[in-house]
This record gives sequence, C-alpha cells and structure tokens, in this order.
Amino acid sequence: MPTVRMALITKVTNKKVQMVYGTKNGIEKIGDNARELRTDHHFVSPTAKLVAHFRRYTDIPYSEEIAQRIDAQGVASKLAGGDEILHGLSSWLAPYLEARYKCIGSQLEREGYRNVMELAAGIAPRGFVMTRYPDVTHVDTDLGGILDERKALFKELGIQKRPNHYFHKVNVLSLDDLEGASRYFEGKPFAVIHEGLLPYLIREEKQAMAKNLHSILKPQNGIYVTPDVVTKIRYKAMIDGNPSLVELFAAISGVTARNMVDNAFEDWEDAVRFYEQSGFSIDRRPYYDGTYELSSIGRLKSDTERVMAMIRPREVWVMRAK
Ligand SMILES: C[S@@+](CC[C@H](N)C(=O)[O-])C[C@H]1O[C@@H](n2cnc3c(N)ncnc32)[C@H](O)[C@@H]1O
Repeated sequence: MPTVRMALITKVTNKKVQMVYGTKNGIEKIGDNARELRTDHHFVSPTAKLVAHFRRYTDIPYSEEIAQRIDAQGVASKLAGGDEILHGLSSWLAPYLEARYKCIGSQLEREGYRNVMELAAGIAPRGFVMTRYPDVTHVDTDLGGILDERKALFKELGIQKRPNHYFHKVNVLSLDDLEGASRYFEGKPFAVIHEGLLPYLIREEKQAMAKNLHSILKPQNGIYVTPDVVTKIRYKAMIDGNPSLVELFAAISGVTARNMVDNAFEDWEDAVRFYEQSGFSIDRRPYYDGTYELSSIGRLKSDTERVMAMIRPREVWVMRAK
C-alpha cells in the first residue's frame, strides 16, 4: 500500500501556496514574504505530525499506526535536532501530551456532552475513537489542507469513518466556517474542544476566535473545553534548564512563523480577564484528575516526579457563554 505523502511545510511564494516536502538538510524555513500575508495558519499544520510522534508512546488507539504511516519520527527528529534529543524529550513530553489529550475526554464525560466539535484536529484520532459510541456525534475540523490529509491517512490505514462522524473545513477565525460545522448538531447542545491550537494564535486572533465561539455556543447552550490556556510564566518554568526544549521551540517557530512563548497569556489573571471579557464563565480544573491512566510513563520508564512537575501546574478550562 503506498504511503500517504504528507506536506512537511507549506510555503507561500508570490501569493501562491506551494507544498514543500522537506529538504535533504532538514526543514526549510519560510521566506519573509510569506510572513507578510498573515493568512499563514497552514504553516502550523506540520506541528500536528510532531504531536503524533509523542502520542505513539501512549495507549491512545491508532497512535502507533498513524505515527508509522506519516514517519512522525522523521518530522519530530528534524525539529528536535536528532533522535537522541528527541528520545530525551519524549520521556516527559509524551506523558504531558497524553494528559493534554485525555483531560478533554475526562471533562466531556464529567459534563455529559456527547456532541463534540473538535477544532484543529490535525491527525489526532479522537473522532475515530469516540464515534465507536453510537450516541456520540463528532465533527472533526481543521484547515483545508491538513483535513484532506487526515481523511486520506485514516482511509489508507483502513480506519472507517462512521455515520456519526463528520469532517468540516474550519478556520477558527471564520464565523461562517464555525456556523457551518455547528449545523451537524441540529440545534442541540454541543461542546467545542481543541488542544495545541492557542499557542499558535496571536492575541487578536484569540480574541476573534473567542468571539466566534461565543456566537455559536450561546444559542445552543454549549461548553468550551480546552487545555490550551498557558501563561508565559509556565513556559519560562518549562524552558528553564531545558536546552533541548529551547531548541525545539525555536525550530517550531522557524516552521510556523509563530512564537508560542510570545503568544501565551502573561499570567492566570490575564487569561481569566481575557475570557471573562469575551463573555465566558470559567471553571478551572487540573489536567490530571486521576480519572485516566498515563500509560506512557510506564512505557518510557519516565521519572514520574519530573513528569508530574510539568503536568501538575497545567489546567483544563471548561467555559460557558454567558
Ligand atoms: C499542534 S497541531 C495540533 C493538532 C491536534 N489538535 C493534536 O493535538 O494532535 C496545531 C493544529 O492547529 C491547526 N490550526 C492552525 N491555525 C488554525 C486556524 N486558524 N484554524 C483552524 N486550525 C488551525 C493546524 O492546522 C494544526 O492541525
């Protein structure tokens, strides 16, 4: 069976979008002309493949098959600066990202929401896993390019989309796109979820997105669940004494033309103010609440205390449109 050829980088030249499939020497940086356009969210899409690498060390279904098929290790190794560095990072980043994935499910369960719109789904398997339950309706969304790759990838892996599972192209800055995706719920309450998206959005984009989400959630009594609220203070604590992470962040900035640390909220007060002013009430809950297993700790023989030191300060927010 042929391997799906996944774009490593998308490049904009003379206002035309070109796919670049990586170079002999690693990941090619984008030119300044591309940055001017700022319709460049598709540069963020390759990071979905980075996350897919760390997820392979978990018990999340399909993660190993996905990672193998797209050579996630190759993408991740280039970004991290080699296999050895990547291995060191995996020992704590894999459990951290496992917690990020599983804390969403834990909150959806707690809140009793079975209708879910996932933003920026990348190549994460959640939609395929959750729709095993017939009472679930799951709408997978992302930017057009990666959403097409997602469809092709799962088809190639022989993982069937079920009748309660939909795909819809959504740029979170477009209210039209979001309204289109919410139609699958036929007026019933639904939850919007995402992970790994906010770090790539500048404040004005986060504002536009929050306004759009408020518009679609308010009339349908929905909730908004995300583990993505992060502060500059937290990033600095993570980076401190961790040169491999500094390198990884720099490589991610090179590919995405976005700086995760600059994009973060100043502190918790700033984040709370931001979402309250956007019209949401906020429930702040811990990433790890003991309701799920962190399987990658055992698989990677990770230092549990080190991992928990990273996970403990993180929160998953459950918000409601006031
Ligand atoms: C780090 S990946 C996370 C993917 C997935 N949620 C996961 O955890 O594996 C970031 C994702 O954000 C998406 N993205 C970036 N800008 C976006 C936008 N404006 N609207 C929708 N999705 C966007 C990218 O296409 C990419 O799939």
